[in-house]
Order: sequence, then structure tokens, then C-alpha cells
Amino acid sequence: MSSPTPRMIARKDGAIGWMIFNNPDRLNAVSLDMWEAVPKIVADFEADPEIRVIVLTGAGGKAFVAGADISQFEAQRADPASVVTYENATTIAFETIARADRPTIAMIDGYCIGGGLGIALSCDLRFASEGSTFGIPAAKLGLAYAASGTRRLVDVVGPAYAKEIFFTARRFTHDEALSMGLINRVFAREALESETRATCATIAENAPLTVMTAKRIVDETRKAPENFDVDYCDRLIARCFASADYAEGRTAFMEKRKPVFRGK
Ligand code: COA
Repeated sequence: MSSPTPRMIARKDGAIGWMIFNNPDRLNAVSLDMWEAVPKIVADFEADPEIRVIVLTGAGGKAFVAGADISQFEAQRADPASVVTYENATTIAFETIARADRPTIAMIDGYCIGGGLGIALSCDLRFASEGSTFGIPAAKLGLAYAASGTRRLVDVVGPAYAKEIFFTARRFTHDEALSMGLINRVFAREALESETRATCATIAENAPLTVMTAKRIVDETRKAPENFDVDYCDRLIARCFASADYAEGRTAFMEKRKPVFRGK
């Protein structure tokens, strides 16, 4: 697809849809046009059955994303009305990533700060290179972090680490991030992309409906018990058992060959 802004790159590469934040002069800080491009890129990937995994990353080799573009705040995020418009655009971007029906991986090489960490937390998995750093400097700027993003952080690291991240507003190392569960895996810089691609290949070979069902049900478990939609989960599970892929999985096992799944 042609991206709506040159500061976002959307690239299809086999089973992977790459979404690349491309504002390297500002460490990929996200401007309004970039936030607004995110849902369009996700929608394009989701419309393509060949795409089995979406990987989000940053251009330039220094940063995943160093947050929202602060240079735009005076013009676009200062008075109450523009704050609402801006927050809507960021919320839609985060939610679209979080609700994507493909698994999403944040491939983090360098700074992963503020809204950048919010983007990474909207993904299902976070893989980082050694030397990457993480933080939410909201308390250094006097701004507030959206409740939905805070919830995602708490879901991943728990309340005690979430508070430490917010209260100190400091940067955390990849070791600290790993130990608090903020990231799934750490790789040497030179191995980050190949390892990410290897995981994508593994996921892409698996049954898409099973993967998507697992994603949805895991996310459902994070809701308050009274909002947990058992019927929805049961429908997703029934769809897997009724799928051609389930028949293919059984047959391939008996024939001692690799299954070929189609997501149907
Ligand atoms: N918005 C706008 N511009 C940003 C930015 C952001 N969030 N983050 C970095 N930049 C710009 C810098 O202003 C600088 O531009 P310049 O070369 O025109 O001066 C350029 O990116 C490089 O950043 P620099 O600060 O020189 O790099 P560094 O390696 O010394 O520090 C950071 C990196 C991430 C620690 C530092 O840039 C920073 O604190 N950025 C702001 C992070 C933030 O508060 N994000 C949350 C926003 S809600």
C-alpha cells in the first residue's frame, strides 16, 4: 500500500506486514499524521490473507519510538479542545494495534519511550535488542497518560512496577525491562531482526484461527469478570473446531507431513 504519510512505512514481506515509524531525525517521535496513519495501515494488512503477523519497528537504528512528537504539542496538544482531538487520534492508534486480528510484535532497537512504550504495549509481544531503554517520562512533562494505556502497562508488569515506571519517570535498561516482564525477549542487536523473523515464520506456519482465538481469549481474561464474554469465547472456539484447518491439522499429523493452514 502507499502509506498516508512518508513518516510511516508500510511494507508487506511474505507473511509479515511491517509497520515502520520513520521519523529518525526525531528518534521516530510520532506526529499527528503518523498516529492517524496507524489504523489505515493495520486495516490494509488485515485485508490481506497472506499477512499472518504484523511487526512494528522504528527506522534509523537508534530508536523504536521516543514518544509523541513534543514539538507539535504547542500547536496541537495545548488547549483543551485540541488535547481531546489529539488524545482521540492516539487512542484509536493504540486500540487498533491492540485489537488487530493478527498477532503483533514490537521489534525494539533503541529508545522505547512514552507513547513509544504505549505502542509497544499495544502489541502482543515485545522483542528488544541489548542496549534498548524504556520509560514513561510523563511526570517530567506534566502530562497524563491515558487510562487505557496505564491499564495495558499494569496488565504486563503489574501495579508495583507500573508505579515505579511512572513515579520515577526514569529510563530502564533491557535487563530491568526483561526482569519486570515488560519485554518478552532480548537479543544481540545484530540478531534482533533475524530472531524476530524466525518467530514470525513459526507463527505464520501455525493455524491462524487458533492463534487469533488464543489472542482474543487471553485479552478477554484481562477484563473484569463481569465483562468476560463467555459466549464470544465459545463462538471463537467452535469456529476453530469447525474449520478446514482443524481437518488439515489432523490429516497432516496422521500423514506425517507439515500442515498447510489457510485460516478457514
Ligand atoms: N518529540 C520531538 N522530538 C524529539 C523527541 C520527541 N518525543 N524525542 C527526541 N526528539 C528529537 C530531539 O529533540 C532531537 O532533535 P534535535 O536534533 O533537533 O535537537 C533529536 O530527536 C535527537 O534527540 P536527542 O535528545 O538529541 O537524543 P539523545 O540520545 O540525547 O536522547 C532521548 C534521547 C529519547 C532520551 C531524548 O530525546 C528525550 O528525552 N526525548 C523525549 C522523550 C519523551 O519525553 N517522550 C515522551 C513524549 S510524550
